[in-house]
Amino acid sequence: MVAGNFKVCVVGGAGGIGQPLSMLMAMDPNVAELCVYDLTVSMVPAEGVAADLSHLNKKSKVKGYAFDMADRAIDKAAECLTGCHLVLVPAGVPRKPGQDRKDLLNINAGIAKNIVEACAKYCPEAVVALIVNPVNTVVPAMCELWKKKGLNPCKIVGVSTLDVVRASKFVHEITGAPIDGLEVPVIGGHAGTTILPLFSQCPAASAIPADKIPDLDTKVQNAGTVVVTAKNGKGSATLSMAYAGARLGKAVLAGLAGEASVECAYVASSVTELPYFASKVTFGKQGVETVHPIGDLSDYEKGRLAELTPILLEEITAGLEYAKENE
Ligand code: NAI
Repeated sequence: MVAGNFKVCVVGGAGGIGQPLSMLMAMDPNVAELCVYDLTVSMVPAEGVAADLSHLNKKSKVKGYAFDMADRAIDKAAECLTGCHLVLVPAGVPRKPGQDRKDLLNINAGIAKNIVEACAKYCPEAVVALIVNPVNTVVPAMCELWKKKGLNPCKIVGVSTLDVVRASKFVHEITGAPIDGLEVPVIGGHAGTTILPLFSQCPAASAIPADKIPDLDTKVQNAGTVVVTAKNGKGSATLSMAYAGARLGKAVLAGLAGEASVECAYVASSVTELPYFASKVTFGKQGVETVHPIGDLSDYEKGRLAELTPILLEEITAGLEYAKENE
């Protein structure tokens, strides 16, 4: 593998997240080839998104692939997926007002399964980064299916970067501390109360009075819903998600290129009693290289972790059951 010459595919690349995510990845100097993969029914044809991005004066070669659901995409994906080092998956149905991430499970897990099976067939060495919600359940389900095929579960990553991005931005807004280098680790899962920002591990957040932390914690948990409501039924977070997804994607590629890189991500884990958990992860030449321990927590954070554990366990169990029922 030569550093700086990676093949990346964005599945759902013509969607709300997919388009800006494809743009940001097309601009990454580590990307030699970018495939925009979507369905023929997408709002904008994948070939159109690719034609548009192919004019950026960047080194990446961009190509679009549109699949008909009736074609059984898995059989047509060979050219698109073969040789991919990273597959980013923002395919799926977004939340509407009043829906939670659980409502999306059946539709989106089916979509993710189709894609993960295609990756297992054509690019079994690729890192597959799942943005499709509900991440807490879809990732365990897909990881189990991946393992059953004899593949390395360290290649499947749930993208929770947006929680880190939001928590860090909110601390910057409150404290005025410089945004560069300001980082709030976010652990647990990627929905509702399972999202646990560790403000105690961010030096800039020490300026925030302890009694203001619970509200700030809630603000991070509800940030996705604020966007869903503001978009009034016309989508969920797309631009900030693309930004966060590209940040994760760049970290994965840097790792593959030999420059180990750390981001929080939701992965198979043994750092707590839960088999899947978001914490800091080092990405290296094989994908997930090290899943880091959660570190010291404040008493408030310890209480929150105890509360979220059974909730996240239930969501993980739903994923494991999905994998059993849908082998
Ligand atoms: P969107 O509807 O704008 O785009 C989804 C795209 O996926 C569409 O272009 C659609 O044609 C495509 N698609 C659907 N099934 C497909 C398949 N089988 N193969 C290939 N492409 C397929 O939706 P949006 O807003 O871009 O959201 C996408 C997903 O990302 C949703 O599941 C949403 O819940 C999730 N999301 C995750 C976040 C996170 O932090 N992890 C944040 C925000 C959204």
